[in-house]
Parts: sequence; C-alpha cells; structure tokens
Amino acid sequence: MNLKNTADRWGGVSQFLHWTIAVLILTIGAVGLVMGELPRTPKYFWVYTAHKSLGLTVLALVLARIGWRLYAGAPKPVPGTPRWQAWMASATHGAIYLLILAMPLSGWLYDSASGLRPFRWFGLAEVPKLAAPDEALASTAHSTHEWLFWLLIALVLAHAGAALHHHFVQRDATLARMLPRRWISPPRNEDSA
Ligand code: HEM
Ligand code: HEM
Repeated sequence: MNLKNTADRWGGVSQFLHWTIAVLILTIGAVGLVMGELPRTPKYFWVYTAHKSLGLTVLALVLARIGWRLYAGAPKPVPGTPRWQAWMASATHGAIYLLILAMPLSGWLYDSASGLRPFRWFGLAEVPKLAAPDEALASTAHSTHEWLFWLLIALVLAHAGAALHHHFVQRDATLARMLPRRWISPPRNEDSA
C-alpha cells in the first residue's frame, strides 16, 4: 500500500487518519450527548475524562492530518466530475476541517472557563487551562460546542451521502480510493493504478 497520496488514490496515512478521526468523533459525540444525563458524582467522572482525553487526541490527529495533507497533497477529482461538484466537495471538506478543529477547541475552552478542576489526559499528564474561570465565556463555549456538533453531523450526513451516491449511482472510484484496495473495488475500472 502506498503511504503517500497519488494522483488517483488516497494513500495509507490519509486513509488511516480519515477513518480513525471519523470513528472517534462519532463515538466522542455519542458519549458527550449521554454523559450530560449521568449523575455528577465521582463515580462517573472517568466518562468526562475519557470524553475530554479522546477529544484532545482528535485535535492532535486533525493537526497531523492537515500537516500530512499539505505535505502529501490530494488526488485529482475522479475523471468526469463536473466542476460544480468538485467545488461543492472542496467547500464541504473545508467546512468539515474547520468544524473538526473547532469541536475539541470549544470543548477545551468550555472546560477551562467553567473553572472545573484540571484533568489529566488519560490520567497521564495535566492539561493546561485555556482561560480563567468566566461564566459568560463558559456558557458561550458550551452552546458553541453543542451547536457545532449538530452542524458537523448535518455536513457529515451530506458528505457520506455524496460518497455513497458516487459509489452506487455514479459508479465511480470516489469511495474505493479512500479505502484499502482489497476492501472494495471501484464499480468501473477507472482505478487501475
Ligand atoms: C472531537 C471532539 C469532541 C466532540 C465531537 C465533542 C462532542 C460533544 C457533545 C456532542 C457534547 C454534548 C453537548 C451537550 O448537549 O451539552 C459534549 C459535551 C461536553 N464536552 Fe465535548 N466533544 C469533543 C471534545 C471535547 C473536549 C476536548 C473537551 C474538553 C477538554 C470537551 C468537553 C466537554 C464537556 C465538559 C461536555 C459536557 C457538557 C455538560 O454536559 O455539561 N469535549 N461534547
Ligand atoms: C465524522 C465523520 C467524517 C469526517 C469528519 C470526514 C471528513 C472528511 C474530509 C475532511 C475529507 C476531505 C479530505 C481532504 O480533501 O483532505 C473527506 C474525504 C472523504 N470522505 Fe469523509 N469524513 C467522515 C465520514 C465519512 C463517511 C461515513 C464516508 C463514507 C460513507 C466518507 C467518505 C469519504 C470519501 C470517499 C472521501 C474522499 C473524497 C475524494 O476523494 O474526493 N467520509 N472526509
């Protein structure tokens, strides 16, 4: 498997980062929605620490992914893609990148401004606070954290829908080139590289 991206395929590093970040974000989001309902007792604090630690891990992975994307580039749009569709895909991808950066940052800001006790990343290292305790800032950061999540989910649904449409209706290599070669083959034989 190629680690670097080529003109017609995502390489192993981009594929690994794409799917790891996707799974982590959906898991962390589900935990986030449920944990607010848990009793606020020490018995459940580990759930909060796990949410925050995984969230900061996503932040590091997204920064690594952006760095790798700048270094390794991206495949060209699949042959035959209309310009408006390529433009829509780039705009959606750009918005998703912004949101997956803003999600952990708004959570971290909320945690900081709430004046909560410092937590340790997976129990290993104390995480610094981004701001002093501030009720108004905490409330803004909290609603930002919640609303950006729903916006991200809406974009991801459109994004995944587009990927499936490419695969099953347009029958091109868009989805196949973001997966290991042996998992699925492109419906047409465009991806013969
Ligand atoms: C990819 C990263 C993240 C995602 C997708 C995510 C998602 C969510 C979601 C969906 C909620 C529920 C919102 C609500 O209904 O109140 C939530 C709550 C929360 N998040 Fe995150 N989060 C992420 C990262 C973080 C980080 C890095 C921190 C802190 C360092 C954090 C701190 C919190 C806290 C403290 C709450 C609980 C709010 C409450 O119930 O009081 N999150 N998160
Ligand atoms: C939280 C979930 C997800 C996030 C945050 C996400 C994010 C992204 C981003 C930012 C890109 C653009 C990569 C770049 O240009 O650097 C991308 C590409 C892609 N994503 Fe996702 N994605 C998610 C879920 C999914 C799902 C569920 C599918 C499939 C059903 C999917 C299929 C694809 C494909 C096929 C590409 C490559 C598009 C191309 O080659 O033009 N993604 N994703």
